[in-house]
This record gives sequence, structure tokens and C-alpha cells, in this order.
Amino acid sequence: MEKIIIGNLKMNLLSVVEREQYLKLLKKELAGKKIKNFPIVLCPPAIHLEAFSKLKRKNVFFGAQNVFWKRSGSFTGEISPSMIKNMGAQFVILGHSERRKYFGEKDEEINQKISSALRNGLIPIVCVGETALEKEKGQTFRIISAQLKKAMQRINRTKLNQIIIAYEPVWAVGSDIIPSANEIMQVKILIKKILVEIFEKKYANGARIIYGGSVNSKTAKETCLDSGMDGVLVGRESLIPFEFLKIGQIINS
Ligand code: 13P
Repeated sequence: MEKIIIGNLKMNLLSVVEREQYLKLLKKELAGKKIKNFPIVLCPPAIHLEAFSKLKRKNVFFGAQNVFWKRSGSFTGEISPSMIKNMGAQFVILGHSERRKYFGEKDEEINQKISSALRNGLIPIVCVGETALEKEKGQTFRIISAQLKKAMQRINRTKLNQIIIAYEPVWAVGSDIIPSANEIMQVKILIKKILVEIFEKKYANGARIIYGGSVNSKTAKETCLDSGMDGVLVGRESLIPFEFLKIGQIINS
């Protein structure tokens, strides 16, 4: 199966002008290179989703970076799954470490968001990962197990093939430090084991397990290919279409 590349553009592209410049570059790169048909997902700020989704390519999809679990109503400042879907999103990143850190998101909320995203036909990209301190204390497996088990509570097993789990060690995000391929592979095995425990092998095998944290064209091989991951979640490099697509090519070579 082709490996998926997902770009988390975070809180960037500050104006219509910046957005249009980005889309122009992206289109140029998509047209210029012989891009194989691997799945590409771009997750811009929600405010840009509609404009992004006008870019019609059969292997390019769009996603949001967060969503609330209610459908509509008095929830000032929130965005619902049906809203982002109507703006062209098919994916949504949930439980990113920056949301856990700066906005106090807890596993229980993340679980509600995953359920709601699935109910609305969106593919959740569920982020799990340990902090530097937790790693230092040897708690990596314990933390990831707890996050994953809570996130997956009451999720229908037939939906597993519509879920992506992203292993994003918090210390590797934005740092240019990456785990070894072996460390990533160990976490993949752990995630798989937990999913099999909860859902049975037949269903658990449907979930894609990807890696995120300082992925660039130099680290792509080690973090995705050598570690046997199903794809990557890219932060900074997704802001440079040329580099982003180069990563996609490397992991699909
Ligand atoms: P960087 O690729 O900038 O380290 O960010 C990773 C990330 O947080 C993707 O969600």
C-alpha cells in the first residue's frame, strides 16, 4: 500500500495573499514533478479549507487541525465536524501534543472528538506520544498505551480502517531530534498490540500507523521506511511544497 503523507500547516498562512502564494507553489510542484499516486493530505488552518479544497487532484485531500464534537449550537469559537466537512475536509488531526499542552485537551475529550469525526464520515488522525521527561523516566510505552486506550474507548471496530494513529514523540516535534528507526518500530508494535487487544486482529489491521516529529527529506527514510511506518505527519516542511512532496516521494520509493 502507498504510504500517506500528511501536512500539518499549524497556525500559518496569515493572509489571503500568503495562502494564494502557497497554493500557487503547491500547484506548480504537483504539476511539475512526476508525483506518483500516493495519498497527500494537507491540513491548513480551518479558515483556509474552502480555498484549499478547490485544488482538485485525485490523490490530494484536505483536513482540519481540530474539531469540536457537537454538531451546532451555542459553543462560541468552536468548529463542528459537519462544518469542516462542508468546507472540503475529509480528515481531521485530533489530540495533537500542542493542543494537549496549550489548550489542556484531555484523552476523554479527544475520544469524544474521534467518535464525532467518525460519525460525520471524517478520518481522524489521532496523535499520541510521550514527553521528554516521560521518555527519560522510561514511561514511553505506559503513556502511549494509556493515551491510545482512552482515545479508542467505545469506538466501533468496523471503523478502524477509517482511523490513522500518529506516533508523535512530543520531544521530536519542532526539535530536529528524532527517535531511531528501531524505537519507532517498537512503538508501532505496541500500538498494533493494543489495537488487536481491543478490537481483534482482523479490524485492528485496518488502522494506519504513521510517524510525526521533525520529518524532512533527510529523516524520512529512517523515520518511515526503516521503521516500517505507514506514512508521516509533517509540520514545518509542509510549508515548503517542494520539500513536502520530496518527502512523499522518498517514503514511496
Ligand atoms: P515538525 O515536523 O515541525 O517537527 O512538526 C511535527 C508535527 O507536529 C506534525 O503534526
